[in-house]
This record gives sequence, structure tokens and C-alpha cells, in this order.
Amino acid sequence: MTQERNGGGGASLQLRDIAVAFSGKTILDVPRLDVGEGSLVALTGPSGSGKTTLLHVLAGILKANQGSVVWGDTDLAGLRQSASDAWRYSNVGLVFQEFHLIDQLSPIHNVTLPATFSNFTVPDSLHRRAVQLLSDFGVPIGARSVKTLSRGERQRTAIARALLLRPSILLADEPTASLDEESARQITQTLTEAAAGQTILIVTHDPIVIECCPRVIRLERGKIVSDTATLGAGAPS
Ligand SMILES: Nc1ncnc2c1ncn2[C@@H]1O[C@H](COP(=O)(O)OP(=O)(O)OP(=O)(O)O)[C@@H](O)[C@H]1O
Ligand SMILES: [Mg+2]
Repeated sequence: MTQERNGGGGASLQLRDIAVAFSGKTILDVPRLDVGEGSLVALTGPSGSGKTTLLHVLAGILKANQGSVVWGDTDLAGLRQSASDAWRYSNVGLVFQEFHLIDQLSPIHNVTLPATFSNFTVPDSLHRRAVQLLSDFGVPIGARSVKTLSRGERQRTAIARALLLRPSILLADEPTASLDEESARQITQTLTEAAAGQTILIVTHDPIVIECCPRVIRLERGKIVSDTATLGAGAPS
């Protein structure tokens, strides 16, 4: 059985009445958000506005206090944490704001890590894909540990890891934050090319990313204050 889990195609999202509160303070309050299959959406807004929190709710990492998050036919609110984790493994590529790489491992081992969750050894096809992604992204493949990589190289390793299994949903938290303009353009191009099939939400402040996204949603103080269709370069012609 191949581990390249997605044969193409994204998933649609229907989010309803989501609220998240910490210590009695509401930090996310989204009555409704619909995202079509294969969409490419930028999520922007000031620091502390709830962008990462929303992304974690969408990934099923964080349970909202109320409401539903339905991806395709799956309502995350109705799943136990273990089922939610299994769903995420099969469907979502995640780029965390803080990368979450394993310092002791090499770039290649970090990228192929998701393939080891369901397999004792990494299939050759995925090993080759990992090498290709890392080399496309200019990450030193021979490095023994990601600890010695620059912040930008670590970020690109995290993005390669999220893309490895061709997930139907890609959720990326500030994926270009540490990158120079040229690297940011290259990563954005890779992400937007994938948008032909995958459903992609990118938390970003980066104008390079925003200009490529056909839809831009802005959060302020936990609420969606604008939701705009743009003529981004990634917009379907
Ligand atoms: N586990 C938590 N406990 C308490 N407060 C939290 C927790 N997680 C997030 N918050 C608060 O929720 C708010 C939104 O945080 P979040 O990380 O989603 O913001 P953000 O828009 O991603 O910000 P940034 O652009 O700085 O990454 C912040 O005020 C934050 O302090
Ligand atoms: Mg954040």
C-alpha cells in the first residue's frame, strides 16, 4: 500500500458557531466560515487576534468550547481526541508557527517522520519525495541535525514535512516568516501550485503570500472582520 495518502482533491470546510475561551475570556468567536474544496485562503490580522487558535481548531488540535468544524463529511467536534488525531494524520499537513521539528534528527528524518507513524520503514517513494522537496527548497540534505540549520532552513524543512504525504488540507502558520523575499516567493509558489487540488489556509502577514491568495480573511480580537475575494495571482482564471 502506498503511503502517499492523497490522490488529489481537497476538502470543503463548514465551520459553525465556534467559540474558544481561556480562563473565561473569549478569544475566538466565529459564527460561520465556509471554504470550498481546493481553495487557497490567507488568514491575516494583528498579533493576538486568534489566527493560530483558529488554525488549531481547524486541525482538530484544539477543541472549541462550542460549535462544529466539518471537513467534507467529518465533524471534528464529534470525534474523540484519538479519532481526531487519526483524521489529522490522514488528511492534514500542518506547518506550525514554531516548526515543531525534532532537533536530534536530520532534515530528511524530520521530513519523513509522518511516514513512520503507520510504517516501520519509510517507503522508497516517500524518501525520494522528501529528498526532492528538501532540495527544491534549498535545505542542506546532508546536515546531521536540524539544530545546525538556519531559522529559514528549519522553516523550509517544516514546510517540506507538511507537504510530504500530499495532504488534502494544508494549514500553515506564518510559513514565510523567517524567509528572505526570494525564498518566500519560492515557497509561496510551491504552496499555490498545490492549491489546484488541496484546500489551503495560510496564516500570514506577508504581502508576497497575500497577493497570491484569491481570498483573504482578516481576524481582529477573535472575530472575522473582513472576508475578501481578491485578484491574487493564485486566483483561478
Ligand atoms: N492556551 C492559552 N491559554 C490562554 N490564552 C491563550 C492560549 N492560547 C492563546 N491564548 C491567547 O489567545 C489570544 C490569541 O492567540 P493566538 O496565538 O491565536 O494569536 P495569533 O493571532 O496567532 O497571534 P500571533 O500573530 O502573535 O501569532 C492571545 O491573546 C493569546 O494570549
Ligand atoms: Mg500565531
